[in-house]
Amino acid sequence: MARSPASSDITFPPGFVWGAATASYQIEGAAHEDGRGPSIWDTFSHTPGAVVDGHTGDVACDHYHRYSDDVALMAEVGLQAYRFSVAWPRIQPDGSGPINPAGLDFYDRLVDELRGHDIEPVITLYHWDLPQALEDRGGWTDRDTAHRLAEYAEAVHARLGDRVDVWTTLNEPWCAAFLGYAAGVHAPGRTDPAAAFAAAHHLNLGHGLTVRALRAAGASTLGVTVNPALVLPTEPADAGHADAVRLVDGLRNRIFLDPMLRGEYSEDVLEHIERFTEPTFIHDGDAATIGAPIELLGVNYYRPTHVAAGAAGPASPAYPGTERVEFRPDAAPHTDMGWAIEPDGLRQLLEKLSRDYPGTPLYVTENGAAYPTGPDADSRVPDAERIRYLDAHLRAAHQALTNGVDLRGYFVWSLLDNFEWAEGYSKRFGLVYVDYRTQRRVLKDSALWYEQVVRRNGLPK
Ligand code: NOJ
Repeated sequence: MARSPASSDITFPPGFVWGAATASYQIEGAAHEDGRGPSIWDTFSHTPGAVVDGHTGDVACDHYHRYSDDVALMAEVGLQAYRFSVAWPRIQPDGSGPINPAGLDFYDRLVDELRGHDIEPVITLYHWDLPQALEDRGGWTDRDTAHRLAEYAEAVHARLGDRVDVWTTLNEPWCAAFLGYAAGVHAPGRTDPAAAFAAAHHLNLGHGLTVRALRAAGASTLGVTVNPALVLPTEPADAGHADAVRLVDGLRNRIFLDPMLRGEYSEDVLEHIERFTEPTFIHDGDAATIGAPIELLGVNYYRPTHVAAGAAGPASPAYPGTERVEFRPDAAPHTDMGWAIEPDGLRQLLEKLSRDYPGTPLYVTENGAAYPTGPDADSRVPDAERIRYLDAHLRAAHQALTNGVDLRGYFVWSLLDNFEWAEGYSKRFGLVYVDYRTQRRVLKDSALWYEQVVRRNGLPK
């Protein structure tokens, strides 16, 4: 997959994969076309007050119709791989039952277009657009949803498995479970901690069942993408701060990574869940199912999480039971999301993951920054801050490699400016600028810069 590297001061290993990522609901639009059913994000984004300025993914970047132009842009940037998600409600409009061939046709065309440009497709099966019909039956709080995910995944694999080698099950299950069912800031907008813990387990189970199903169908490269937090104590020497770190690490990271990569939940996490609900949803044998071997772990990194031991106060809604944890506000400098820029956090996170879960190759499946920069009078997009952000994070990733981490690839979030969930179109993460009125695309300076990074397989000193 890798092109021949030119000489460069910071060179990545031969075969290192350079890509960019997107997700179906964030770019496709065509919400009602070719038999697509509604997803929880259609319902949520159409709920007054849920998304900034009432934005929805109805049209988004209109990628559904413009995919071949978008693949041409990818080729211009020199991408070797493209990570995208399949919209479950296009494939099974009701979340179960009959497969909609027209939905599969779209991804069939997209994969052929990618292959035609020598760009490797990397599929995410679930990037948050759960069919609404399944949510109406309990969504991720219902064990059956895990089985439905595996069934849908088999249908996608049956159609595309001859041309797609790399399959990931879930994207950021923490967000799906805790932002969706506890904090209520993402679809389906529920605010019930007990539901969030059930959702987390069923997402894990869905991952395991999907790995099992696709393995049986002959898939060779399977994995999952998570967004583990690098949780840092404000006072490293303070025992109370260390407890706060352990609690947040359990709720954000180990609740997913332990069953997926070690085949078991840890005791402290189970005890914490019991504060909210009797975990009868965890059945004998589930942990082993979830722990089916995988070939890669995708890591999404944007910023670290700084915590301190605090006086009892309201828990963060996304972290049930953290009354005694103080989440420190992000320090400057930050991106347009208000997220702190701490590139060395990426190095530390990759090193920690490879220490705690050795043996699974890592990919950075997302890293990037929102900045509002648009085209100037000459149609140039001078997004120097994004270049600085990406450059610094790539140096940190390279340092992790030098220190022994088995890092195999890096994907920028995102190829295109797109629908940034609860922030709507107000935050722009793309290498490519999108004018939402005309759907005109303009390569930003960062896209031109990234093209050189890919070409030389590295960075100048
Ligand atoms: C995480 C998600 O996977 C992606 O959908 C989102 O747009 C980016 N990070 C930025 O928030």
